Amino acid sequence: MEERKGFGTNFGFLMAAVGSAVGLGNIWGFPNKMGASGGFTFLIIYLILAVLCGFIVMVGELAIGRKTGKGAVEAYHVLSKKFKWMGWMGILSAFFILFFYCALGGYCIKYVVLNVGDLFGAGFGSNALAAVADANGTSVGAEVFGAFLGNPTEAIIYGLIFVAITMIIVIGGIGGGIEKVCSVGMPALFVMLVICIIRSCTLEGASEGLKYMFVPGWALANGVIKEAPDFFSVVSTAGGQMFFSLSLGMAAMITYGSYLDKKENLQKNAIIIVMMDTLVALMAGLCVIPGRFALDPTGKLGGPSLLFVTMQNVFDRMGAAGPIFGILFYLLVVFAAVSSSISLLEAVVAHFVDKARDEGKGDKRKLYSLIGAIGAGILCVIVCLDALGNAGISPADILGMRVDPSDEVPTWSADWLDFFDCIAEGILMPLGALLMSIMYGWELGPEVVHAEATREGQKFGAYGWFRICIKYITPLAMLLVLYGQIKEFFF
Ligand code: PHE
Repeated sequence: MEERKGFGTNFGFLMAAVGSAVGLGNIWGFPNKMGASGGFTFLIIYLILAVLCGFIVMVGELAIGRKTGKGAVEAYHVLSKKFKWMGWMGILSAFFILFFYCALGGYCIKYVVLNVGDLFGAGFGSNALAAVADANGTSVGAEVFGAFLGNPTEAIIYGLIFVAITMIIVIGGIGGGIEKVCSVGMPALFVMLVICIIRSCTLEGASEGLKYMFVPGWALANGVIKEAPDFFSVVSTAGGQMFFSLSLGMAAMITYGSYLDKKENLQKNAIIIVMMDTLVALMAGLCVIPGRFALDPTGKLGGPSLLFVTMQNVFDRMGAAGPIFGILFYLLVVFAAVSSSISLLEAVVAHFVDKARDEGKGDKRKLYSLIGAIGAGILCVIVCLDALGNAGISPADILGMRVDPSDEVPTWSADWLDFFDCIAEGILMPLGALLMSIMYGWELGPEVVHAEATREGQKFGAYGWFRICIKYITPLAMLLVLYGQIKEFFF
């Protein structure tokens, strides 16, 4: 039988896991939520939740994977009688995220190309739209994005290019594809981020952005937000953000854990992943937020508009060096997105590859990666056609919930991106983490994780803490997050 090949080095594993965690969520979610939800207060709550839940679920998921050496479906199947179906839930989440992630990844590639065009004054740059923006009294970023959304063919082509890149890397396998790409891509991303931070923080007016991010109450006092969020909603926003950002509650970390060598230290790896992800989220904030306050003070602070309108305005107004920083920035976002999407596709593909191998049919990685990519590609096309709800085919339009374009509709129905996001990030992921902690805390017992984490004499100093959290604190916190997510996305 063919051997199941894993990561070559612990560094390779770490870069892949950090790569999965660091993604669009860090760049447009974290800085904006931090600023709007009380700056440092939010950060402290986020860190407390990371210790109470993020770290705990991370160790738990890596242990499920490594103990069984299988993809998420088989792993839960082997481990638990009551929760054996949960792997499928994880795979479903991965698939749902993949649909919109590939569409957005495609948008980012388009913006790299756009800035290359700007650098050379080419027709595919944004120059042609400057006059239109002047005439309409809008901004170049708004015109570029509007034109792009109005042309779904272009979005589909870029989306499918992103799907193809993801597929090619996953076909390369863990050691030959994912590990290689992340070992180079992640350090490169870090360097690009530092360069962009230096530029952004030295712009005139950048300090306002730093105040927005870090000073408690600044956003409210300065009219950036209208109402102060209550404590409960800050906790649930921080919790929801953390799960998505750490790629938890689904199949990704279980799958990566299954390729980790038995001699490596689970506790240490989990701590590094959580810390690196938080660090990059903060760094991403230092890169985008000061830029926005300095050069596009009325621009949107979060979501797709932050990346594709506000940031493009920032580069447009930066002068001659703008396109260079634009290329650098959107390229780093593409890296962040690809390193996440490969973990999503791998989480889906690993199960089928394992099964084929166990049945003696050889490693059908190429075939399953292709099938997974085709599935993701088809739904990515729908997300692109929908153009963030602007094309009249959103769930709300189809269900007749939006008669007039200005009608307010619940988030889940506003566009297909949000629809898939609500199911995955709003329900399946927090539910997955809640049930996983119940499985360890109450069905299998936390000792199972202890045995796995220390199987070759490694240290698991935080085990006492882990035991208390996984039984009582994590499930309770997860219930709160689940409730908060459902309230935010569906009502
Ligand atoms: N963590 C990624 C981000 O922050 C998203 C993701 C979720 C990736 C789940 C893989 C699995 O953007």
